[in-house]
Amino acid sequence: MTNLDSLIEILDFEAVAREKISKMAYDYYASGANDQVTLRENRDAFSRIQLLPRMMVDVSKIDLSTQVLGMDFSVPFMIAPTAFQRMAHPDGELATARAAGAQKVAMCLSTISSTALEDVAAATNTTLWFQVYVYKDREITRHLVARAEAAGYKALALTVDTPKFGRRYADVRNRFHLPEGVTVANFAAAGLEKLGAVSGESGLAAYSASLFDPSLTWDDVAWLKSITKLPVLVKGVLRPDDAEKAIAAGVDGIIVSNHGGRQLDTVPATIEMLPIIAETVNGRVDLLLDGGVRRGIDILKAVALGAKAVLVGRPLLWGLAAGGQAGAEKVLTILREELELAMMLSGCANVNAIDRSLVS
Ligand code: GLV
Repeated sequence: MTNLDSLIEILDFEAVAREKISKMAYDYYASGANDQVTLRENRDAFSRIQLLPRMMVDVSKIDLSTQVLGMDFSVPFMIAPTAFQRMAHPDGELATARAAGAQKVAMCLSTISSTALEDVAAATNTTLWFQVYVYKDREITRHLVARAEAAGYKALALTVDTPKFGRRYADVRNRFHLPEGVTVANFAAAGLEKLGAVSGESGLAAYSASLFDPSLTWDDVAWLKSITKLPVLVKGVLRPDDAEKAIAAGVDGIIVSNHGGRQLDTVPATIEMLPIIAETVNGRVDLLLDGGVRRGIDILKAVALGAKAVLVGRPLLWGLAAGGQAGAEKVLTILREELELAMMLSGCANVNAIDRSLVS
């Protein structure tokens, strides 16, 4: 058993996870595409941004709460969708959902989760969103969306950067596949839950190449909206003109994302693109960001540069690996405490006070 008390910062969790889980699982979670330039850049770009704190503000009480898409969030961060969490811990997405509930943090579940979406919903009372990959067989997606809606998910995040998965060399080398007992659980009824080994290829790349729809265009946002009452966000926007098209297509929110550096390598860090996209969006829809968030100060910077909230992915996987629900909870607690401290030290008693002037 890992002593969670010895884990002080988010990076400590990754080191423990690396020891505890299989190489195939660790590599799958940790990798970026190709040379992993974007993976590194997501972190490096945060480090380059300097903060300009405001002094002599009453910060005896800090209010971390905010609203995203009109939903109450206790903190300006949420759990990003990441696939196959049962490779990190046997309780997988159930442990993450319970941690999210205990810590009152919202969670977005992946289409390709290793626990059925209904079981995840039953495990928590926190706000749940559902990430959508569109399958070529649109009936499969229609059914999935109807299930998410029926199970109480509150928004759909349509991933727009994945007509195919990026080339992740470690997964090709490891012939990535799901271990015994882990499945693409939402697709059991459709008979598409198995993800086995494929020679010379990542099994996930092969799975998605045969099933995901690479023909998606902005018109499909209208299709998605036509089959659901839920608000729709798009996840994976990196250009202001795409943000404009997303708004024209009727989205309710935009997630600035490069898929954790896992799709097209050498694209810029998300935090680098956020200000210019925020300028274009100009408050017309809510803007969120993911990619490289490991510290409370990263969250402060993203909010200062125009994000309503950020999504945090890999740290939760490392937390799960280190200690199941308790590990995931500790990760969320660290992020909350670090953000609170960052707000105190920069003179922000509430999230609204985190403005552009904090960033030099
Ligand atoms: C899943 O979405 C992945 O990036 O592997």
